[in-house]
Amino acid sequence: MKIPQNKIDEIAASTDIVDVISAYTPLRKAGRNFMGRCPFHEERTPSFSVSQEKGVYHCFGCGKSGNVFTFMMDIDNVTFYDAVKTLADKANIKIDYEYEPYDPDRNKIELLYEINNRAGRYFHENLMGRNGAYAKEYLHERGLKEDIIKKFGLGYSLREKDALYKKFQNDFSTEELIASGLVLNIGANLPAEASAQAGEIRDRFRGRLMFPVFNEAGKVVAFGGRRMDDDSGDEAKYINSPETKIYNKSKTLYGLNFAKNKIKESDYVILVEGYMDLISLFQNGVENVVASSGTSLTALHSKIISRYTKEVVIVYDSDLAGQNASRRAIELIIENGMNVNIIPLPRGDDPDTYIKKHGTDGFRNLLNKKQSIIDYIGESYISRGMLESPEDKTEFVREIIGLIAKMRDEIKRDFYIKDIAERFSIYESIIRKELDKTLKLKSKGLTREIDDKLISKAEKDTSFKEHPQTFEISLIKMLFYGDDLTKDYIINNLNIKDLNNPASIKIIDFLIRTFSDNKKINIANLFNTFPEGLENKIIGNALLDESSVLEENRNYINDVKSLLNQINITKSYKKLYIRNN
Ligand code: GTP
Ligand code: MN
Repeated sequence: MKIPQNKIDEIAASTDIVDVISAYTPLRKAGRNFMGRCPFHEERTPSFSVSQEKGVYHCFGCGKSGNVFTFMMDIDNVTFYDAVKTLADKANIKIDYEYEPYDPDRNKIELLYEINNRAGRYFHENLMGRNGAYAKEYLHERGLKEDIIKKFGLGYSLREKDALYKKFQNDFSTEELIASGLVLNIGANLPAEASAQAGEIRDRFRGRLMFPVFNEAGKVVAFGGRRMDDDSGDEAKYINSPETKIYNKSKTLYGLNFAKNKIKESDYVILVEGYMDLISLFQNGVENVVASSGTSLTALHSKIISRYTKEVVIVYDSDLAGQNASRRAIELIIENGMNVNIIPLPRGDDPDTYIKKHGTDGFRNLLNKKQSIIDYIGESYISRGMLESPEDKTEFVREIIGLIAKMRDEIKRDFYIKDIAERFSIYESIIRKELDKTLKLKSKGLTREIDDKLISKAEKDTSFKEHPQTFEISLIKMLFYGDDLTKDYIINNLNIKDLNNPASIKIIDFLIRTFSDNKKINIANLFNTFPEGLENKIIGNALLDESSVLEENRNYINDVKSLLNQINITKSYKKLYIRNN
């Protein structure tokens, strides 16, 4: 099934790209365009530019460019087809389908979804069947009821070395199954000749309790597998699927698909560490919760959370690992402009065991006693008897100021400073002086960041072949912005063989062929043809570089003539040079 081009155009026309992107990163008007911090890479200073009129974006930091469709594809890890459907729904546009030609890349992603979905059902059937009796018993012992086991699609992987592989072999190729991460080629690390013989295919998950990991849209993208015997030697307690085209650990929050509406409704989110913690809370009716399972919280996780709420409550394990993880999470959450509170659990408890012992009400009471970062860090000093001498106090102030300096909101910072001064009897002026010092250091850090950017840009520039020549970029601009006479002039006079950079050649060739067919170019649509690579960057640059935007539909024939002259001169120089050497 294919979506007709006129529908795609209609959807693009009824969609405001600024609206769509704003849900992921705040944008503000700057000149003709909108600017914000790039949602695709970490940065402090905005270099992500969006043009509302043209319906395109370009990041001057990481180089990503595209239209609303490629944006959805990249940010949500979905296919072009799914991106179009989502935006069509939002715009209330109905799609009539056409027969669809073969698209290998789309099929690869669809296939990964298909394999993971099938595996989820397969593991679940194992759990429900005769072979899963022991695993089922384990879950019941841990207090999980039948309906929650179903809701979370829990499963069991058989102990045999290749049960899943055998089962799936007829429907998928070995390469496809390896790509999904569900099976491993044991010989893959051996030298080529040896691996051909030794190449033995095994299931990644064997004899484990299986937790399907869902993406935001509720599709299975990966698995976590838990060992069931707590004393089974040195085997890891949890094994997770590797990252694939549909699974990016640092972007995936376990449970978000189930929790998102409740998070919006309650306007806060509870952050836990484990699969079991989340499921246990859900079973007890606490549903505004996500887990950063399989990895510690990342900046991208916290960015995703901030799309749903600005209030985070951390409930991590009470052990040292949990405390350290809390510290890191607190920083990331503050850096993303959100508020964070912490719930310390009694020694030995995690959210799962706590709610089992004290019930839903007990857990909710705990929520009412949440600590601010000041309470939390203050208490950790007090409990160590470390808030008595002036030196101790200085140490405490330094630590807490480190966090406050990460807040972007000056009013909020002020509020925290007053609070610390009052509660710990420390002069406000002392705290402010410390903050100023830290902020100055931080601004030095910022300069370093810019230097890094410049250096990496310089590195890119040194690979000369990779870099399009100025006249090539100019030609592309003329083809975008020139009137029909200008385009005709280029089509009739440019010899495409005179160009140097392969990416520019592809773009110009495409543009010329389209115009020769008397077709109009929808600029935003270009990104569907060039969704990645250098071509994508060149187009984004040509369209959004404010310093050299051209007036649309003007006659640029004179400029083109001098460009072509320049090309001819370069050519004769080259010939001369070759003859003389
Ligand atoms: P239970 O012990 O069954 O209650 O599970 P839990 O989810 O409470 O586990 P725990 O608190 O030990 O760990 C929290 C999370 O960290 C888990 O849900 C996993 O996502 C992850 N994790 C724990 N152990 C391992 C491990 O050995 N390897 C990996 N990759 N992740 C782990
Ligand atoms: Mn646990």
